[in-house]
Amino acid sequence: MSDPKKLYIKTYGCQMNVYDSERMVEALGGQGYVETKSPDEADMILLNTCHIREKAAEKVYSELGRFKGLKAEKPDLKIGVAGCVAQAEGAEIIKRQPMVDLVVGPQSYHRLPQMEEVVQTGAKALDTDFPEEDKFEHLKARPKAKRGPTAFLTVQEGCDKFCAFCVVPYTRGAEVSRPSDRILAEAQDLVERGVREITLLGQNVNAYHGHDGGLAGLIWALAEIDGLDRIRFTTSHPNDMDDALIEAHGTCEKLMPYLHLPVQSGSDAILKAMNRKHTRDDYFRLMDKIKGARPDLLLSGDFIVGFPGETDADFEDTLDLVRQVGYGQAYSFKYSARPGTPAAERATVEAHVADARLQELQALLTQQQRATQDSMVGRQVKILFEKTGRDPGQLIGKSEYLHAVYANADPANLGQIKSARIVRSMTNSLEAVLD
Ligand code: 5AD
Ligand code: SF4
Repeated sequence: MSDPKKLYIKTYGCQMNVYDSERMVEALGGQGYVETKSPDEADMILLNTCHIREKAAEKVYSELGRFKGLKAEKPDLKIGVAGCVAQAEGAEIIKRQPMVDLVVGPQSYHRLPQMEEVVQTGAKALDTDFPEEDKFEHLKARPKAKRGPTAFLTVQEGCDKFCAFCVVPYTRGAEVSRPSDRILAEAQDLVERGVREITLLGQNVNAYHGHDGGLAGLIWALAEIDGLDRIRFTTSHPNDMDDALIEAHGTCEKLMPYLHLPVQSGSDAILKAMNRKHTRDDYFRLMDKIKGARPDLLLSGDFIVGFPGETDADFEDTLDLVRQVGYGQAYSFKYSARPGTPAAERATVEAHVADARLQELQALLTQQQRATQDSMVGRQVKILFEKTGRDPGQLIGKSEYLHAVYANADPANLGQIKSARIVRSMTNSLEAVLD
């Protein structure tokens, strides 16, 4: 048998891309490829790209430029661009960078095996369709190999919300939910391979409708799987947080007390201009309900500053919302105009103003994040150990609240969930002592 060919895949952007990259490795496994961490020894290089904010395409072109030398040394090396930049730029990529052999959008990567055969003949392969068939169904089953204790599982893709700043409805297409029987089978398989915690992924995951009772129904069905101990989901839109899902946060023991629920802005005028379809009061009411169901829930969010038309008063409303809600974790971004989106037509806030706002918001969010983390000291948590730490005898895992936690523990605890008490809060992690 000939040596396996080597695939180097570099992943940018969100967790859905991480999941997609894993599945692309599996799809090309059938073509005789194994993954390598080194581009130098690769027979194929794939960049799985993200288009959510500015300069994404430019970054991809400069990254491709870096592989030019490699391709000159190794003419048989195949180079591909996958993901959302591939979807947005399509054939333009091969025009601008002719050494690219393959361009595949996020909805077509189940066709990679055929595309690989095409590029082996020296031809180019391009596929940015939104095919009728379900790509997940057409992928080979994951190999039965053992794996780490946590996994992502994509249950929903695309988005119908059309927030005025966002490219997702254009790059990932309309909202599509995977049928729950396939998700349950995939989850069962992951558990058989050692997975204890599954994070359900979707661009707007709480709009999932592939099971009776929506996402809450799916979570309850997953909770029936023996050996699956923790369920998380990300990312959500406030308008799709239905009562059943809120209630599940209070009653489903396997659903972890962590919720990523982006609000983007605290100003009613900006929320309207963003086409978010809810007010700040709606969000406050929703928060009250969620905290009522699960008082210790750690809340996470996304914010955009400098959206076109954002005044100082609008920005103050965002700071005020953050102070009132309190976030344990958050991501904030400077608005970046995305070609083809409605907001891109509007005049932007001056860069220095947006920069200053971003700094101010980030300072507040960092302070809240630290305070939340510090408040864990003295508390009992359950840690799912994922890997060994740098110091001998140390393991690293995650608490229910998704905090990274270090503890001295025997390596036999890897992949296990253990009770512990938090004794120290460090910059980005906690230290615990096992019970
Ligand atoms: N500019 C800045 N941030 C953006 N996001 C999405 N689109 C843009 C954009 N055009 C942010 C939102 C979203 C997160 C994934 O990325 O906050 O929730
Ligand atoms: Fe983009 Fe999320 Fe809005 Fe959908 S809900 S358009 S993915 S920001």
